[in-house]
Amino acid sequence: MSSLISVILLAGGSGSRFGSLLPKQFHDLHGKPLIRHSYDFFCALPWVSQIIVVCAEAYQPYFPSATYAAPGLRRQDSLFNGFIKSRGDWIIVHDGARPLLLKEDIENLKEATFTYGAATLATPAKVTIKEATADGLVDKTLPRDKLWEIQTPQMIKRSWLTEGFDFARAHSLDVTDDVSLIEPLGHPVKLVPGSPFNIKVTTPIDLILMKELLCPVTA
Ligand code: C5P
Repeated sequence: MSSLISVILLAGGSGSRFGSLLPKQFHDLHGKPLIRHSYDFFCALPWVSQIIVVCAEAYQPYFPSATYAAPGLRRQDSLFNGFIKSRGDWIIVHDGARPLLLKEDIENLKEATFTYGAATLATPAKVTIKEATADGLVDKTLPRDKLWEIQTPQMIKRSWLTEGFDFARAHSLDVTDDVSLIEPLGHPVKLVPGSPFNIKVTTPIDLILMKELLCPVTA
């Protein structure tokens, strides 16, 4: 398939859960800002036509040859700002806070998206997930064999994402990932098993774990 593919790299969050003035994606990980690991990864893929980084102006120099978009209030607003700068027929969205992407996973994601129209990397749930009431009591236990933990990248056909943004605006939809924008439209989203190392840095502990993961103790 010879259509254009744009990557939107999200780095517009303030990182309030990380508890630092410097957003988590700009902390050092093995000699470069955490987000540069995924930026460099996408720069090296010959089939990527355009990389749009959604980040505050102060961080633009971290990405010398990218297209920039301004962050929005919510993740989905940042995505929209990136989307209107994109020209791809297919859009890949990735969290700037996930630096450990594998080549094999992105190739599998691309192939699945060309077949189904939309896909996301994911891993089968390992833990038991319960739904709680507002006062902190267990409401119900969700069947684990049907649950998947969703990662990024996620890849979506451009026309579906356009429809998804229209739907979200019309129905005041709040979403926490990108394929959620198109799920209410009835479009299929293929779950593509990804690497468990594709961890998202959310808290300082995650960054410590990631540094350990990349630098195993040799003694
Ligand atoms: O907050 P969370 O960890 O889910 O954010 C995932 C990614 O989305 C991060 O890379 C973050 O910088 C980005 N984001 C954004 N704009 C926002 C909120 C989050 O680009 N308003």
